[in-house]
Amino acid sequence: MDLKLSCLSPFPCLSPVCSMLKPKNFITASITPYRTRVMKDTKKHSLTPEKHELFKSMEGWVEENMLVHLKPVEKSWQPQDFLPDLSSDDCFDEICDIRAHAIDIPDDYFMCLVGGMITEEALPTYQTMFNTVDAVRDVTGMDPSPWGVWVRAWTAEENRHGDLLNKYLYLCGRVDMRQIEKTTQYLIGAGMDSNIENNPYRLFIYTSFQEKAAFTSHANVAKHATRYGDARLAKMMGAIAGDEKRHESAYAKAVEKLFELDPDTTMRELADMMRARITMPGRMMRDGADRTCMDTTRPWLNGWACTRRGITSTLSSTSSGGGSSGRWRRGCRRRGGARRIMFVGWGRG
Ligand SMILES: [Fe+2]
Ligand SMILES: [Fe+2]
Repeated sequence: MDLKLSCLSPFPCLSPVCSMLKPKNFITASITPYRTRVMKDTKKHSLTPEKHELFKSMEGWVEENMLVHLKPVEKSWQPQDFLPDLSSDDCFDEICDIRAHAIDIPDDYFMCLVGGMITEEALPTYQTMFNTVDAVRDVTGMDPSPWGVWVRAWTAEENRHGDLLNKYLYLCGRVDMRQIEKTTQYLIGAGMDSNIENNPYRLFIYTSFQEKAAFTSHANVAKHATRYGDARLAKMMGAIAGDEKRHESAYAKAVEKLFELDPDTTMRELADMMRARITMPGRMMRDGADRTCMDTTRPWLNGWACTRRGITSTLSSTSSGGGSSGRWRRGCRRRGGARRIMFVGWGRG
């Protein structure tokens, strides 16, 4: 497939070098249509008025301890820092460079990248989730409370991730962008019920796991890009992983503070969430088209491709244990011959 740039610029054609770089395969992010699971008997608004006050009383702490993990816009990277400037004369050389590096990267690596991109692109779902939560939501859309400031600035930082991955995948020529765009549209349309009961204890437990999983995945994608000799892709993924690390630190600090202020409730909510399992948004992906792709795509959905590439497995993205922060510690037990995560604790080291 040739790059289709006619709608972007009046330049007549691609250079001969670039036109020789045909993608080996044309990866389609076709995830078998996945019926949206309706969560029956979902508990709602489980936060008591007394606990509501506890979160209100934490606002000073949030200001000093969470907002410091945000980066000012002027000091932040932007997707354009890693991408060709399409107004420059040598933009086609840069695009050819992206394609030349992408050509020999294995398909399953790209499947991980596509999964990461679609997950990032479903950002409206995550902001919606945050803003359904009692005591911490942004009630007006411009709420000056530290919780409101946090959710808006966090969303703005996250927004760059999907933008960058989307533009890179579009330019690299290795993927079927239309199918990917459909999958994103389906995913956002499906929404997500993460079993957090509009409860901020559960929200922060969930987000600290989720950010940890995102960091692990993007950091490993960066590592493998280096192995394949693609320095641009490695830098991109490293920058995204750096953001996820800051987010994880902020959310993990919030859970740590909750353990300090209210250990019983925090531990009860954590135990309950572990029993119900923490699931990542990617499980809802579907493209609504290819009903025959189940056998080839399900292993990816189950984390096979990511595991094979050492990126992150379903197990690690649902448990996100251990790691450099040393906050989440997990224990394993054997049950029925399978090694399963049976408990997750909180502690150092
Ligand atoms: Fe992200
Ligand atoms: Fe993040």
